[in-house]
Amino acid sequence: MREKDSKKFYITTPIYYVNAPPHLGSAYTTIAADVLARYKRLKGYKVFFLTGTDEHGNKIARAAKEKGIEPSKLTEKIVSHYQELWKRLFISYNDFIRTTQSRHIKVVRNVFQKLYQQNDIYKGIYQGWYCVPCESFWLESQLKGNLCPDCGRKVERIKEECYYFNLSKYQKRLSQYIEKNPDFIQPPARRNEVIGFIKKGLKDVCVTRLNLNWGISCPVERRHTVYVWIDALLNYISALGYSLNGEKFSSFWPADVQLIGKDILRFHCIIWPSLLMALGIDLPHCIFAHGWWKVEGERMSKSKGNIIDPQKMVENYGADTLRYFLLREVPFGEDGDFSLSAFIKRVNSDLANDLGNLLNRTLPLIEKYSQGKIPPCYEERGIDKQLREKIEGIFSPLEKAMEELSFSQALSLIWEIVRSANLYMDKCSPWREIQKKEGLKNCLTTLYHLSETLRLLGLLLFPFIPESAKRLWEQLGIREKLEEQTFDKAKKWGSLTIGMKINRGRPLFPRIRE
Ligand code: MSP
Repeated sequence: MREKDSKKFYITTPIYYVNAPPHLGSAYTTIAADVLARYKRLKGYKVFFLTGTDEHGNKIARAAKEKGIEPSKLTEKIVSHYQELWKRLFISYNDFIRTTQSRHIKVVRNVFQKLYQQNDIYKGIYQGWYCVPCESFWLESQLKGNLCPDCGRKVERIKEECYYFNLSKYQKRLSQYIEKNPDFIQPPARRNEVIGFIKKGLKDVCVTRLNLNWGISCPVERRHTVYVWIDALLNYISALGYSLNGEKFSSFWPADVQLIGKDILRFHCIIWPSLLMALGIDLPHCIFAHGWWKVEGERMSKSKGNIIDPQKMVENYGADTLRYFLLREVPFGEDGDFSLSAFIKRVNSDLANDLGNLLNRTLPLIEKYSQGKIPPCYEERGIDKQLREKIEGIFSPLEKAMEELSFSQALSLIWEIVRSANLYMDKCSPWREIQKKEGLKNCLTTLYHLSETLRLLGLLLFPFIPESAKRLWEQLGIREKLEEQTFDKAKKWGSLTIGMKINRGRPLFPRIRE
């Protein structure tokens, strides 16, 4: 990272289509972005976390028509679903961009005009195929059995006058850039996919549509509408006021991490960087494509009736359990299989048993043997030292895992601490220590180590399960706010205030009945 932006962190999610309410996939990307944003804030970065909605184009216009309402009515309704869900999932975004906002429209027009003036956009005729659900143009040769090669649905034949963007002109520069910057596209399998695609040769792309009212009219010729993917991609810079007032743009651009799903790789790793090159602005540091969630081996779809509704999951099981499951179950970048039984199993074993029990066993012992106050730590014994050193040894691989977006790895490291602490409690058995001669000191030292471990677990888990981590700290009696902590300071062993009153409450993670 460069000196200038060493303490800023700009992270984005894709902006979501508003033809239907949010699904598990949109929740997945947004939760992952939130985890990273929270972690970077703890690490002292000035974070700008952007999400939003992709509201124009054929797909939305048609969905509204099917419902017999105006597109603007549909978008309002669905946008409020998104915002409500993000609130319930504790998504700490800094800005929510909507492509129907004038701040965005102005930037799209400015960009189009600039590219046209510098001859990167020119007029022509498009003859080929179009997939409305994916909003993508396809050549005859790319179709699979006359269907969209991406989503397998019907495509439409179009022949219309349009404006093209000079994508082919950037092919060489883009290849060189990807070559020189191995971290630009991640994980490596996706990078190879993009390299392979570019090798086949890039063709110029259409950047306008005709006969489509629901979109941004083209500033060069008003009959045309800006192609929805160009409109959408520009959200990442329009939210920063690119071409308007440069302040946010110069503070936060280039993006540090742009999270996407693997299905929108080409738009983000070919068209997007080429547009940026044409505009003469830096490319994002990293575009990371995660995998897809299937449901019991099948792609989620309305027709199969197997859609997992994140809103319902939150209502039934709580936000933190869903956040935890999605990031723990599958390595970020790979595909996953969602099933309610796997969800329940994971939540019961990791959260209710391992972590929940650690807290639920420790607090009553503090009440019983330490008058409900954080006990002092007497002389550190070998077994105490072992636990402390185990925890201290995990910070470095954990921070590395977070930097690499290896969320499930990070959680599995945190669970090494949880398990070690449970084992430590069993081995020490403070309820037995107290019975020995002079046993109070040992018993309290054990309880001190358990409390301190729980404090650190709250800190480490805050990015992943923010509400539960806050409640964990509250139960320990800690008054400071987790979101105001500095990771490197708070991670130091021994920060608990001795004598502080604990505050035992409801169990953090009740078992889910199978
Ligand atoms: N509007 C475009 C993105 C424009 S960004 C400039 C779009 N929207 S989307 O709502 O269809 O998808 C948004 C994200 O959700 C994509 O990253 C996609 O990969 C992700 N997912 C959709 N279904 C998914 C799963 N079943 N599993 C995981 N993520 C998936 O594309």
